[in-house]
Amino acid sequence: MTERKPKEARVREDLPAIDPARLRGMFDDLSAIGGTPGGGVTRLAASREDGIARDYLRDWLDREGFRVHIDQVGNIYGFLDLAGAGAPLILTGSHLDSQPLGGRFDGAYGVVASCEAVRSVRAFGEARSRPFSRNLGIAAWTNEEGTRFQPSTLGSSVFAGLYEPAAALSQADRDGVTLEQALAGIGYLGTDDPPSRVESYLELHIEQGRRLEDGGCAIGVVEGNWGTVKYVADIQGEAAHTGPTPMKERRDALLAAAQLVILCRTLSDETDGELVTSVGRLDITPNSTNIVAGHVRMFAEFRALDSARLADGCRRFEGAAARVSSPGLSISLRRTTERAPGSFDSALCNLVEAVARIRGYRTMRLHTVAGHDAVPLRAVCRSGMIFVPSVNGVSHSEKELTRPEDMEAGATVLAGALYALATGTDGL
Ligand code: HGY
Ligand code: MN
Ligand code: MN
Repeated sequence: MTERKPKEARVREDLPAIDPARLRGMFDDLSAIGGTPGGGVTRLAASREDGIARDYLRDWLDREGFRVHIDQVGNIYGFLDLAGAGAPLILTGSHLDSQPLGGRFDGAYGVVASCEAVRSVRAFGEARSRPFSRNLGIAAWTNEEGTRFQPSTLGSSVFAGLYEPAAALSQADRDGVTLEQALAGIGYLGTDDPPSRVESYLELHIEQGRRLEDGGCAIGVVEGNWGTVKYVADIQGEAAHTGPTPMKERRDALLAAAQLVILCRTLSDETDGELVTSVGRLDITPNSTNIVAGHVRMFAEFRALDSARLADGCRRFEGAAARVSSPGLSISLRRTTERAPGSFDSALCNLVEAVARIRGYRTMRLHTVAGHDAVPLRAVCRSGMIFVPSVNGVSHSEKELTRPEDMEAGATVLAGALYALATGTDGL
């Protein structure tokens, strides 16, 4: 059966504008929460800083008349029942948690732009007494980054029914603190129902790459995502004195880990970048200057657009890991994330493109290499993404930057698309 060709989005020209100063003001407020001297943020999931950012968002939602729900894994939702209880819901949003010494745009920009866009849509529609046929909602998802707790996109995956709530809440960080304890500690272990009848989800996010900048485009129409497999490897050797212990007798867990780190890079180099790999974290025990490492926990990840390429890279890595084992040195490997390559909703792509065209922004169609909450959301509704450029493609760094005019462009296109969806004038 041929896939129904999505109708061309015939969007009306009169679309809501956003207030750039309001957008900038919210963004600056949020950037100060967990702000670092180097101009980035450290706002780990369910940390004290994340709690303050959540309070900031919840206060804003309350002030603006949203109905606020916090669900069992701390996802925050704000609803505007513009079309009455029981009407289908158009959801937007992103995440407030960040990387350690991360960028202040990743996630947070999408949340504040969603607030500004939804607020503008409501005002625009009411000023024209245009009837809304859908309700509008904003979501801030728990633990998108997957740095404090694994896996990433945890809150949105629970919402989408892809991850059991109890399993999510029992995930522990490197200090043994569970997500449940951390959420309770900041007052965000909720009991409210998550939204039902979500018809579409549209997420605005920075590109975290340099395709848009290189192409001179302000708006990215995200057609799909690369596949990702993330591993945790536990390498068990033998702690020993780094001096008198004969080299032949050493069971050096860090040496084994180093061999696998180099292998990950070699596997990528052989594909000319079609497979990207990385090891970003090693937990070494006892991590002493003069003890042969007895144990190493290693976090590795593989990404590719082509699923066969990804599978081949993983197969070779897993094979090599099995060969690293030797008498007295063992390795156990488990996958914490398996994200298949996939496509976002093509009608939403067409809508974003049509709105950007009306607003005079150049667009580019591309795939996301990074993971986002819009990926698990695909399991329960039409899901799509809008990208704006990252300067020099830098992200997950204090140097992350998106220019004000691009921040404004993204929020403007988001507002236009949400308005078309919420008033049924998207022509989809
Ligand atoms: O791409 C990532 O690893 C994260 O899910 N944003
Ligand atoms: Mn993100
Ligand atoms: Mn990120």
